Amino acid sequence: MSTPPGYFDTMYASSADPWDLAGRWYERRKYALTVAALPRPHYRSAFEPGCSVGVLTERLARRCDRLLAVDRVESAVRTAAERVRGLDHVEVATMAVPGQWPGGSFDLIVLSELLYYFDDDTRGRLLDRALESLEPGGTLVAVHWDHPVPEHHRTGSELAAPLASVPGLSPLTDVRDSDFRLQVFTRTDPADGTPLSPAAEEGLL
Ligand SMILES: C[S@@+](CC[C@H](N)C(=O)[O-])C[C@H]1O[C@@H](n2cnc3c(N)ncnc32)[C@H](O)[C@@H]1O
Repeated sequence: MSTPPGYFDTMYASSADPWDLAGRWYERRKYALTVAALPRPHYRSAFEPGCSVGVLTERLARRCDRLLAVDRVESAVRTAAERVRGLDHVEVATMAVPGQWPGGSFDLIVLSELLYYFDDDTRGRLLDRALESLEPGGTLVAVHWDHPVPEHHRTGSELAAPLASVPGLSPLTDVRDSDFRLQVFTRTDPADGTPLSPAAEEGLL
């Protein structure tokens, strides 16, 4: 069974930012590494489910023409919306994935500290939906805390193999930090075969 929704409601009832995402150096460093690992300088349309209070959202916004950030908890959505107020290309909404999923297609999907809350079946459905809405050549990022937590079904490294075996995802980056696992994949285009690396894109290979 996935982590019950009541867990998140209880967390946000105790604090507006229960994981201190806006305050911790650990988070700032991880967010910096996450955006640094994006293979393209700029994206057309990005989706960030489980955005919480919008700290990573604000950083991703600098790299996107359009960004949709969603969370299942309304108070988190309000805090995130306040953080990105004035950034007209960013939309923040209440949504519980994968049961709810936005229409349209994206060239970037960021799954940051989210996948470990789902049981294997629900995580599989979420990844199916992500793959359906990720354009060929698009980027999927997965970054997760790599220590056991009672409310987490998997550590970051336990998620790494199932992610790497998803058909249609080609691995680009795999960072095994002491505290988190960061993987970046490119959505393969069946017609084009293996996607080019950033160096190959610029003709360095
Ligand atoms: C640990 S926080 C991570 C926040 C952010 N992604 C980051 O990396 O800083 C996890 C967030 O995911 C949200 N969440 C959990 N399950 C969700 C779901 N099924 N749909 C949308 N958001 C969800 C929680 O409400 C919480 O705000």
